Amino acid sequence: MRIEVPREFERLGAVRIYGLQKIYELDAGAEAEMSDQNDAVVRSLPAEALYGVQREMAIVVPVKSERLKLIEGVLVGIPNSCLVIVVSNSPREPVDRFFLEQESIANFCRFTRKQVLIVHQRDPVIGAAFAAAGYPDLLDDTGCVRPGKAEGMMIGTLLARMMGKRTVGFVDSDNYFPGAVNEYIREYAAGFLINGGEHTLVRISWHSKPKIVEQSLYFAKWGRSSRHCNRALNRLLSHHTGFETDIVKTGNAGEHALTLDLAMSIRYAAGYAVEPYHFIDLLEQYGGVFPTEHGDMRRMVRICQIESRNPHLHADKGDDHVAAMIRGSLATIYHSRLCPPSLQEEIDSELRQGGYLQDGETLAPVRTYPSMEHLDLGKFAAGVQALVDRRVGAPPPMALLVP
Ligand code: GDD
Repeated sequence: MRIEVPREFERLGAVRIYGLQKIYELDAGAEAEMSDQNDAVVRSLPAEALYGVQREMAIVVPVKSERLKLIEGVLVGIPNSCLVIVVSNSPREPVDRFFLEQESIANFCRFTRKQVLIVHQRDPVIGAAFAAAGYPDLLDDTGCVRPGKAEGMMIGTLLARMMGKRTVGFVDSDNYFPGAVNEYIREYAAGFLINGGEHTLVRISWHSKPKIVEQSLYFAKWGRSSRHCNRALNRLLSHHTGFETDIVKTGNAGEHALTLDLAMSIRYAAGYAVEPYHFIDLLEQYGGVFPTEHGDMRRMVRICQIESRNPHLHADKGDDHVAAMIRGSLATIYHSRLCPPSLQEEIDSELRQGGYLQDGETLAPVRTYPSMEHLDLGKFAAGVQALVDRRVGAPPPMALLVP
C-alpha cells in the first residue's frame, strides 16, 4: 500500500489527532520489489508487513437483522488472516434469524476455511459471564447484555482479547461492497503499522457515498450525521487549543480499529454514540485538561484518519434513524465536561434549526459504560469457553489465551 504521510496533527495533552491520509495505491507489492521509496510525502508499506498486522487482528461484525446476502458479502471481504467475530442481536422469534445467520455463515466457511466466532448478544451465557467477571454495567434487568451496536462491539472486543489478538477492528454488516470491506481492513493494518504503539485508534473516512440525485449517480462526501458531529468536535478542540481547526473528519466513523490495550481502557457510550464518544473519552482522559489517572503525557494516544478509495454503499435505515444518530453523537459532546457553554448553545440551536429537537425538549445525555480494564478476564473467559469452542472452522477446543 502507498499512503500519504499526514501533513499535520493537532495535539491536546497526550492525544494526537493526525490529518486525513490519502491512499495512493492499495497494493504496492512485496518488500523485495520495493526499492526504498519512502519519502517525506508518501509511505510504502509492503504486502507482507500488512499481512503480519492482520494476523494479529480480530474483526468484529455487529449484526442486527441484516440480509444474509449482505452479511456474506462482508465476510467475503475480510482477509482470511483475521479472526472474525460476529455479534448478532437479530430476533430469535417469531422467526429465528440468528439460527439462519449461523447456518449461512457455517456454510460459507466450508468453502473458505475461515474461522468465525458467532455469538448472540442476548445469550444469557454471555450476560452471566459479564456478571461473574464483575462488570454488570452492560446488563439489563433480565441479566442479558443490553441491545445496541456499542454493546455488541464491547462483547466482540472482549472475545478478541481472550483470543490473544493485539488489535480489533469493526466493520458494519450492511455493506454492499466486499471490496470496500477488504480495503478498510488493509487500512486498519496500515494505520497500526505506521503508528506502532499500544494506544492507537485508526478511523476511516469514506471517500464517497453514492446516491441517486436527479436520476444520476452522485458521490456525496459527507453524510448528514458526520457533518454535525465533525463540526462540533472541531469546535471543541479549537476551544481548548485556542486555534481554529478542521482536523477531525471521522467523528462518527463506524469503520474503525483500536489496539486492544486502548479498547480495554476507554469508556464506551451506548448504541450509535459509541464512535464520537471515543474522541470525547480520549480527550477527557488523556487531553491533560483535567487531572486523571492517566496523567502520564508521554503515553501518547494516536488517532489516525485514513480516507478510503472505494465508495461506501450500505443499507438505508431512514430519516428517523439518522436523526437519532445526530442527537446521540452531539449529546456526547454537549454533556462532556470539556464542552464550554458557548458550544452547548451552538449545538442546541443547530439541533432546533434542523428539527432534531422540538420546543420544550432538551438534549438527553447518553448512557456510558466504564472502562473494561478492571473486568476479570479469566472469569469472563471461563463463562464463555463453550461458545468459543463452538466457533465455525475451529480446531479442536484449545485453552484460551488470557494475557
Ligand atoms: N450486535 C448488534 N447489536 N449490532 C447492531 C445493533 C445491535 O443492537 N444495532 C445495529 N447493529 C449493526 C447493524 O446490523 C449494522 O451492521 C451496524 O450495526 C451499523 O448499524 P446501522 O443501523 O446500519 O448504522 P448506520 O449504517 O446508519 O450507521 C453506521 O455509520 C455511522 C457513520 O455514518 C454505524 O456504523 C454508526 O455507528 C456510524 O456512526
